[in-house]
Amino acid sequence: MTIKHLTSINDLSPADAVAVLNLAERLKAELKGGIPHPLLRGKTLALIFEKPSLRTRTTFDVGMYQLGGYTVYMGHSDIGPGTRETVPDIARNLSRWVDGIVTRTFAHSTVVELAQHATVPVINGLCDEEHPCQALADMLTLREHKGGLQGKHLAYVGDGNNVAHSLMLLGAKLGVNVTVATPAGYEPMPQYVETAQRDAAQTGAFIRVIRSPEEAVATADAIYTDTWTSMGRESEAEQRRQVFPPYQVNARLLRYAKADAIVMHCLPAHRGEEITDDVMDGPRSVVFDQAENRLHVQKAVLVWLMGVTR
Ligand code: CP
Ligand code: NVA
Repeated sequence: MTIKHLTSINDLSPADAVAVLNLAERLKAELKGGIPHPLLRGKTLALIFEKPSLRTRTTFDVGMYQLGGYTVYMGHSDIGPGTRETVPDIARNLSRWVDGIVTRTFAHSTVVELAQHATVPVINGLCDEEHPCQALADMLTLREHKGGLQGKHLAYVGDGNNVAHSLMLLGAKLGVNVTVATPAGYEPMPQYVETAQRDAAQTGAFIRVIRSPEEAVATADAIYTDTWTSMGRESEAEQRRQVFPPYQVNARLLRYAKADAIVMHCLPAHRGEEITDDVMDGPRSVVFDQAENRLHVQKAVLVWLMGVTR
């Protein structure tokens, strides 16, 4: 039997992506209605994190609990992937004890290597190149606020990073137009742009990378930003603080946007850098809806990969 993984948005077909969002919507309604859904009763999920986390760790933990299962958390310093033991051997060991693995890594290749050697599903909980669970939660949030996804336009303003990659890939599959506006030298990796543009050709969406934040937001339904300095790039933080201020999501930039455009951020936010307090705390901001939806969407991912859907 082939094991399904979520190492990348590329692991999802457009139909899979819609199914996960629909299941998330159902699980969210059940949770709010007090209807228990122990779809993963007795199952165990390992969390292996090489970087810190609030949202990802908590939502996988709480989500597994709500589904009737358990998690076991391991920091990299505990198990030493590649130093104390090889990544393939860690995958082979964990596969004997647990029913799924979530991992947060620096290198994308570590997630792929785990998946290649695990006999249980592996989920990418963020790596340097992708953040698929975040993008799924974001598309659920966009769908809730805008009543649909096809033909909507998300403008990502800032660093062409892991979050931007996953948003482009998933937007393309769901028919969401994505514009990424970055300073020179901080564009998304070309292979992610090319893959997204190829998928977008199938769904009628456009994916484009431009320079002007004002142009990006002008026709957007959602304006998205993320930290200027991702985890692992801390030594570049000062240099990035010089380059990125024109890309700050603030009241001035929002004057170029439609009146009903929502503002999104994956969090953690660096208030006063990529986003100002007034915008983050203002009426257009849906950032905590996104954070909430991490829970619902990841439960759907877990059930999709590890369980039997009703
Ligand atoms: N957005 C997100 O992944 O948050 P954490 O880094 O806190 O998990
Ligand atoms: N791009 C950010 C996202 C954090 C959730 C980072 O990788 O640090």
